[in-house]
Amino acid sequence: MGYGLLKGKRGIIFGALNEQSIAWKAAERCHEEGAAMVLSNTEVALRMGTLSALAEQTGSPVVAADATSFEDLTRVFEEGQRLLGGKIDFVLHSIGMSPNVRKNIPYEALNYGYLSKTLDISAVSFHKMLSAAHRTDALAPWASVVALTYIAAEKATIGYNDMADAKALLQSIARSFGLIYGKEKKVRINTVSQSPTMTTAGSGVSGMTRLLRVAEEMSPLGNADAEECAGYIVTLFSDLTRKVTMQNLYHDGGFSSTGMTLEALDMFDKVCD
Ligand SMILES: NC(=O)c1ccc[n+]([C@@H]2O[C@H](COP(=O)([O-])OP(=O)(O)OC[C@H]3O[C@@H](n4cnc5c(N)ncnc54)[C@H](O)[C@@H]3O)[C@@H](O)[C@H]2O)c1
Repeated sequence: MGYGLLKGKRGIIFGALNEQSIAWKAAERCHEEGAAMVLSNTEVALRMGTLSALAEQTGSPVVAADATSFEDLTRVFEEGQRLLGGKIDFVLHSIGMSPNVRKNIPYEALNYGYLSKTLDISAVSFHKMLSAAHRTDALAPWASVVALTYIAAEKATIGYNDMADAKALLQSIARSFGLIYGKEKKVRINTVSQSPTMTTAGSGVSGMTRLLRVAEEMSPLGNADAEECAGYIVTLFSDLTRKVTMQNLYHDGGFSSTGMTLEALDMFDKVCD
């Protein structure tokens, strides 16, 4: 059931690939809350994924864009305003990819060409997105921009590889742009640090199944799933959070503030016995 939290709002959602995607769940939830949206992903993702089903379900037009291309992103903001009939009230950056992770190259032996790609796709794309929106003056006053991140940006996490560096940069871009955008246009920019989640990107992280189990035991409320993340994102897109900006907001069942739990100790005990 929706609460009409995004009634009359226009948004752009980047990164829905399939039903597991966090962006997919976010688009469904935004639609339920009364928003009109444009969906965007790469040409390849549009061919391989099932975005057309989501577009049909939510009545959203699709504009293809490679998030590493400033021109593509500019087109999304221009087309987005035209298709939705006005300035944009919310944007979701739900994009991440590391060729080093995909090819199982360990952190101590990174391929630097791949590292550049990881940073370009997973972090610099956020700068380009905000810059393209700025140059096209696409965002409405009090618009809300959210990008997804992970705790590995702040705490070394085995297996997350160069995505940790990309996420640290992403979080910094959110703060730096938040300062400029807040002053100039009253636009807010935040990152949401989500629990490990079984999606296409998530399943690429080495040891993901074990990571999910341990995170579950280390989170007082348990891991947050993609639907719950979508609900949190809706609150950040709504008018109820207008003065929240430049924050990294944890949506992880309490994991980020937990040192140790009894359940995790029991898990270690079972292994040691
Ligand atoms: N799954 C997790 O455990 C987890 C946890 C915390 C944060 N996140 C973050 O959530 C976001 C969404 O990931 P997800 O878990 O829903 O996985 P996903 O695989 O469904 O989404 C990743 C998206 O990035 C898109 N993408 C890749 N390269 C692109 C490019 N050049 N241009 C445009 N789009 C491109 C993909 O097509 C895909 O839609 C990512 O930023 C991810 O790092 C995921």
